[in-house]
Amino acid sequence: MMKKVLIKTYGCQMNAYDSSRIQDVLAPLGYEPTENVDAADFVVLNTCHIREKASEKVYSELGRLRDMKLQRAANGRAMMIAVAGCVGQAEGAEITRRNPAVDLVFGPQTYHRLPELLKQRGDTGAAVVETEFEVANKFVALQSQPTAIQSVAAFLTIQEGCDKFCTFCVVPYTRGAEYSRPLQQIIEEAQKLAAKGVREVTLLGQNVNAYRGAGDNGPESLARLVTHLSQVRGIERIRYVTSHPRDMSDDLIAAHAQNEKLMPYLHLPAQSGNDGVLKAMNRGHTASHYRKLIERVRKAKPDMAISGDFIVGFPGETAAAFADTLQIVRDVGYAAAYSFKYSPRPGTPAAEREDQVPEAVKNERLSRLQALILQQTATFNQACVGRNLAVLLEKPGRQEGQLIGRSPYLQSVHISSPELKIGDIVPISIKSVGSNSLSGQYDGVGRV
Ligand code: 5AD
Ligand code: SF4
Repeated sequence: MMKKVLIKTYGCQMNAYDSSRIQDVLAPLGYEPTENVDAADFVVLNTCHIREKASEKVYSELGRLRDMKLQRAANGRAMMIAVAGCVGQAEGAEITRRNPAVDLVFGPQTYHRLPELLKQRGDTGAAVVETEFEVANKFVALQSQPTAIQSVAAFLTIQEGCDKFCTFCVVPYTRGAEYSRPLQQIIEEAQKLAAKGVREVTLLGQNVNAYRGAGDNGPESLARLVTHLSQVRGIERIRYVTSHPRDMSDDLIAAHAQNEKLMPYLHLPAQSGNDGVLKAMNRGHTASHYRKLIERVRKAKPDMAISGDFIVGFPGETAAAFADTLQIVRDVGYAAAYSFKYSPRPGTPAAEREDQVPEAVKNERLSRLQALILQQTATFNQACVGRNLAVLLEKPGRQEGQLIGRSPYLQSVHISSPELKIGDIVPISIKSVGSNSLSGQYDGVGRV
């Protein structure tokens, strides 16, 4: 009989990619996916450590799972619990110490070894903790696994880890050093995805535009990889995330002007608009460098939608420094942006600083920044009304006959047209803007 696994994903898109690959690794062991915890024989929490709240959520979820496991044991039914992802990597054996109901702990670079880890758990009866960094081996091992696709729009990890060491960030410690997958390996994965009906790939990496994967004649750039992928039959759209301002090269900017399959959306975190804060963050760029970069990008691709990440309340951030962040947001004009309160992460340099910003101040700054961003997103969306946008239809909507897709600018678009189906890319005439999405109409012409 098939066993059931529930994989719960926290955090970023790379975790979403990892979760689907964990599913691929478990399938040959007889595990099929479920969304229902009561039906699950195996629960995997694929965790995020980027901010405090993310890891606290994991510990409380583990508390609930332990109770469930004990209750089941009383009825003679087993349940396995695993902690995967960045909390697993960062906390290791601390997790099994805090919660002995946990059977397995593994990091983002070892999940390809799950069959062996599960066997070890069965043979020894003791909890297994595995937090080695084996990123190159992982991708080689995963390459031989068939890939189950989740949607016509798929994630594809091309680069992992980070050497930048921003002083607030845990990623260099949880994901390890920068690693780029070889070009050919990525092309083959894209071909496999396309053969299963995928039409859009989002290339993932913590520093995706620092991609330097091995090609036939030495390392290749992200721009060159995009050119190769745009020649894969069936792939109509390409996106990439997350970029670093320091690695935004001329050839990548030019690719946006030249390659129609490369979508006009750029997620380029600034983190702050103040040079003192940027320096203390070890970002390696100034506010003016960022502004000039955006100018160059817009010159190459005038309709580029810009998105970003910001942190408020970094240690030592003054009212004037925060005002600089509001100013850069006003100057750039974002289509979307994510903002976070600074969260001290154990082991990172900024967490040691004495000049932490009080919580109340962080809250007040966050709400001011979010109000500004919300306004900008609304303005950006409103400007799309009356335009015709090419939409890739991804999933059914809540209402009968409704489909939900994405515009080139990553906006969610709702359409009700019985003649359309998931996977179509169609021009949609945008009629109105809701709180998180656009609504539009298909006029019956044009289909890719
Ligand atoms: N506190 C708050 N936000 C953080 N981020 C990363 N580390 C922290 C932290 N310690 C944010 C950054 C990054 C995004 C993924 O998460 O803005 O770009
Ligand atoms: Fe973290 Fe900075 Fe690396 Fe991004 S560039 S993953 S914020 S250390």
